[in-house]
Amino acid sequence: MNQFDDQKCKKIQLDITEHINQCNDIKDLNLAKSHFVGKDGIITTILRQCMKDPDINGEDKKIVGKKINDLKDFFSNLYKEKINEMQNLAQSAEQVDFTIPVYSNIGKMHPLSLAKEQIHKIMQEMGFCHEKGPSIESEYYNFEALNIEKNHPARNEKDTFFVEENVLRTHTTSVQIRALESGKYKDNFRIYSIGDVYRRDDDSTHLPMFHQIEGFIVDDNASVSTLKGFLLDFLKKFFEKDDVEIQLRPGYFPFTEPSVEVDVKFDNGKWLEILGAGMIRKNILQKNGYKKGFAFGIGLERIAMIKFGISEIHDLVDNNLPWLKKYGSKGIAL
Ligand code: PHE
Repeated sequence: MNQFDDQKCKKIQLDITEHINQCNDIKDLNLAKSHFVGKDGIITTILRQCMKDPDINGEDKKIVGKKINDLKDFFSNLYKEKINEMQNLAQSAEQVDFTIPVYSNIGKMHPLSLAKEQIHKIMQEMGFCHEKGPSIESEYYNFEALNIEKNHPARNEKDTFFVEENVLRTHTTSVQIRALESGKYKDNFRIYSIGDVYRRDDDSTHLPMFHQIEGFIVDDNASVSTLKGFLLDFLKKFFEKDDVEIQLRPGYFPFTEPSVEVDVKFDNGKWLEILGAGMIRKNILQKNGYKKGFAFGIGLERIAMIKFGISEIHDLVDNNLPWLKKYGSKGIAL
């Protein structure tokens, strides 16, 4: 009986536990099964030997038989538990569909996002730093600091969305003041911003929310002529063609003098206004310790529509899937 005492029993139990824990699949489990309880398995062999052993009396054989059966139960319980665990794992793996293509293969960028991405790239290549401002803006940054007086029509409730004592910014020129006031920039520098703007305009050619690209250069050599040169360079890069034609018409903005409206010539010979610009007013620059600069504000929707051949501004926000598939495009680099 010595050869099958409790200690040996414990040792076999430990062996079984270790073996089963290391099983990774059903094949491993079946190997463990034949190793322990198969025809020539450890447990079966011990049982056979005991039964044949003439030194073990009938009573002891019963005890050994009981211990062996307990060991077999011990094995079969662990075996069943492990199978359950494997089935649960397989089920949860099935819930994750590994066949779904990775995002970049199916997604397309909205033409406005694509245009925005291209503009970020161009502006940074042209030496501009990016600045951001809030969409809910104070009247000070949106109007006052830009010489837009209290009784100016733009400050009318018919034109502007008011949010308590603030406004939804009507242009991104507010970012210009924030950047100038920040004192972060010294000497000659270039800043741009791209963002959402809001006006109470909602008809076939306007959206109440649209986007502007704002840019300004503070530089001793800033002039209307360098402004025009810069705009041409920018538009050539954006439209990806060399023969871009623009015309400057006199305009009025309280924060620039002289001010211009800029049109771009279409292939059909027609001109379309795409931006406002001008030399930043002295009072704005001097208040913040600067001398000379020009600024411009471009309608993102306008230039994106020209570039991608989109005729209806409302298509940009209609979420029409066939339209998005047609005009969407793979991004440059996300
Ligand atoms: N803020 C002006 C607009 O919204 C555009 C502009 C920006 C004009 C900068 C001049 C200089 O129409």
